[in-house]
Amino acid sequence: MSANQIYTPADVQRYYDEWTERYLNTSGDIIQGARASSIEELLGYTALSAGFEPGDRILDAGCGVAGPAIFFAQKIPLTIEGLTISGVQKGIAESKIDAAGLSGKVKITQGDYHELDKIYPADYFDRAVFLESLGHAANPPLVLKSAYQVVKDRGHIYIKDFFVKETYDESLSTKIRTIVSNINKHYKYNTLDLGITIHGLRSAGWHIVYIRRPNFVLNADVAEEFAIKHNINILEGVGVKIDHVEWLEIMCQKVR
Ligand SMILES: C[S@@+](CC[C@H](N)C(=O)[O-])C[C@H]1O[C@@H](n2cnc3c(N)ncnc32)[C@H](O)[C@@H]1O
Repeated sequence: MSANQIYTPADVQRYYDEWTERYLNTSGDIIQGARASSIEELLGYTALSAGFEPGDRILDAGCGVAGPAIFFAQKIPLTIEGLTISGVQKGIAESKIDAAGLSGKVKITQGDYHELDKIYPADYFDRAVFLESLGHAANPPLVLKSAYQVVKDRGHIYIKDFFVKETYDESLSTKIRTIVSNINKHYKYNTLDLGITIHGLRSAGWHIVYIRRPNFVLNADVAEEFAIKHNINILEGVGVKIDHVEWLEIMCQKVR
């Protein structure tokens, strides 16, 4: 199930160039909707789930303003390359990295994650992470294929995102489609379909290690505050609140 319109990288770039300041005012440096009780808990959990190890070279694909990258580089001796489609985010991220004294450990590039294989050398990263970023992809299978090229053999890809909730109930399915289409329109998202994502991962050559629900109590307070502040009503045309998406984390390994 997918919404009718596909948002392109150019749409997403325009969106973040315009909206990043508003996110920073509500979300701080971490632009994620599904949070734990604190940023420490959320990102500590992410580092464990994604299997970060000292010495790793990490690709943070869709890095925002480098909030997560700075957190990880401060806690673990690793190097991180962050990629964002937004020039505004790149500028803000670089000032934050400088201020944190992490210029040697965290580097930001502006570019499109559909073309990772053109931006980075082959077999370059120990792992690639997509923290609430893959859902913006116009073509997720292409992104997963390009990530496969730039991750080393035995390296990993880790995805945290939300997926369209599946149901066999036709009337529920119509409501879910309406809500997802509202989300996509307001956030320039292309909410992921789990079946297509799994197929894309496998076609690219990734081996699934796990797919699971994040093991922390999901806190959506910041996302709700943001929506209220900016008059975003994802329930428009449906009215009632229903379970419309499913939050998952997916870990895969490159095995040649
Ligand atoms: C919801 S924000 C998440 C930011 C960050 N992961 C965090 O946790 O703060 C989505 C991010 O994905 C990036 N993004 C979306 N489409 C992209 C694309 N085609 N190429 C590179 N980055 C992209 C955006 O620029 C933004 O930084």
